[in-house]
Amino acid sequence: MAQYDVVIIGGGPGGYNAAIRAGQLGLKAACVESRGTLGGTCLNVGCMPSKALLHASELFSAAGSEFATLGIEVAPKLNLPQMMKQKDDSVGQLTKGIEFLFKKNKVDWVKGHGRIAGAGKVEVTGADGQVTTLEAKNIVVATGSEPSSLPGVEVDQKRIVDSTGALALPEVPGHLVVIGAGIIGLELGSVWRRLGAKVTVVEYLDRITPGVDAEVAKAFQRALTKQGVEFKLGAKVTGAKASKKGVALTFEPVKGGDAETLEADYVLLAIGRRPFTNDLGLDTVGITPDKRGFIETDHWKTSAPGVWAIGDVTHGPMLAHKAEEEAVACIETLAGKAGHVNYGIIPGVIYTAPEVAWVGKTEEELKAEGRAYKVGKFPFIANSRAKINHETEGFAKVLADAATDEILGAHLIGPSVSEMIGEFCVAMEFRAASEDVARTCHPHPTRSEALRQAAMGVEGWTMQA
Ligand code: FAD
Ligand code: NAI
Repeated sequence: MAQYDVVIIGGGPGGYNAAIRAGQLGLKAACVESRGTLGGTCLNVGCMPSKALLHASELFSAAGSEFATLGIEVAPKLNLPQMMKQKDDSVGQLTKGIEFLFKKNKVDWVKGHGRIAGAGKVEVTGADGQVTTLEAKNIVVATGSEPSSLPGVEVDQKRIVDSTGALALPEVPGHLVVIGAGIIGLELGSVWRRLGAKVTVVEYLDRITPGVDAEVAKAFQRALTKQGVEFKLGAKVTGAKASKKGVALTFEPVKGGDAETLEADYVLLAIGRRPFTNDLGLDTVGITPDKRGFIETDHWKTSAPGVWAIGDVTHGPMLAHKAEEEAVACIETLAGKAGHVNYGIIPGVIYTAPEVAWVGKTEEELKAEGRAYKVGKFPFIANSRAKINHETEGFAKVLADAATDEILGAHLIGPSVSEMIGEFCVAMEFRAASEDVARTCHPHPTRSEALRQAAMGVEGWTMQA
């Protein structure tokens, strides 16, 4: 029987980072993954293919409209198979990259479905049905998540798709109806809108992107509406009937009222994700997931000795970088080091146009906590680089403690803000005051000056407007 210091079940950002860190620390490690490639949801059907399509579709849309403002006259023509191919090629290179890192760090990839079989044992069933048993001093569960389902809306990956299907539609839909105005719905809805689809988003709540600072969410909805995305908020989906040619989707106002029907070519169901623990053998070590299916942990330790859990299968934001942070901290802890994750500083990004990026508390959260705070804000229209590039949409907002000036949150909306939020992550990690950012020299002309100006705004000495 093969013996390991640590066996990790799942080869996504949680699992592969855990395996690589274990290898780096000299632990004998194996990673069990049932998918044909490493990288999990993120590399195969999540972060990476969605960003590939967002990038390509944004350029397609800019070529069709914004280029003309710059004096560049082109008439772009969509080659959808090529757009899909470049996405698939990049994904293939990235997943191979993880395989390379496994070899470099002496991690064994055990292919097949992993199942805990009592303390210190993992059974792996290969594609051929053969079962191998691994013996492990530590087991790390990193089995991720899957799309949530909605009664009456059956995903067939033909006409009614989840995110995986929406990343590989065979044609640009005439009309795409998205259920859920969350991150997946708005990112993938944006992709198909830019490529020419009419897009209608049906959302249960009376706002989009719950959890995002409300002022930012409002500006975001305005921007998407300007791009032609239609919203039906406060709407309860009651059913979806698929035929060969399309889908009839019915919904009614949450507050009561007449039902409506939308005729769509495709429907994307994106109402959240749930932890994935199917046939994992958790019961063999006495672990019972909570009511929503999450494995409960304390510093990545489960209730069973020697069994750890990280990533989407545990509580917290379902994000690749959260899984990665936990992977490193979990392995360092089980190796006797001081693993640490600062859960207050996990940034979020929506990779649309404009992008939305944030870290720390929203205004709503601070109000609910009864915390006294100050706000500094700066619009990109007053930033010289944004103006010269004709990219003036959005603003930066900084929230700081009223008494100590410590930065409590930063909320950005505008082009490229995904690349700028890291500045606030570092500042907050060092518990910086807004004045620290306000008095830090930033290069001119850059969009990052807007962040400094927003920080200056906390004490009311914004200059660039
Ligand atoms: P996963 O990546 O889900 O990996 C789990 C792996 O375990 C899977 O490969 C699965 O096959 C395997 N597995 C499960 N059970 C077993 C078993 N019993 N035996 C063997 N293998 C098993 N996050 C971001 O931070 N940024 C983004 O831009 C972003 N974009 C996204 C876009 C989409 C469309 C989606 C769906 C998600 C996106 N996410 C993004 C979320 C991100 O993909 C997840 O948070 C991340 O992948 C979680 O990592 P994980 O390791 O916990 O799980
Ligand atoms: P989400 O939680 O972001 O949004 C789901 C939306 O659906 C919410 O607005 C919710 O109110 C709505 N909803 C729930 N039930 C509904 C119903 N019955 N009818 C209509 N609307 C309903 O979930 P989403 O978009 O599926 O994404 C799942 C997760 O994947 C995200 O939370 C995020 O963690 C991760 N992700 C991250 C990305 C990024 O970091 N850029 C990109 C894509 C996904």
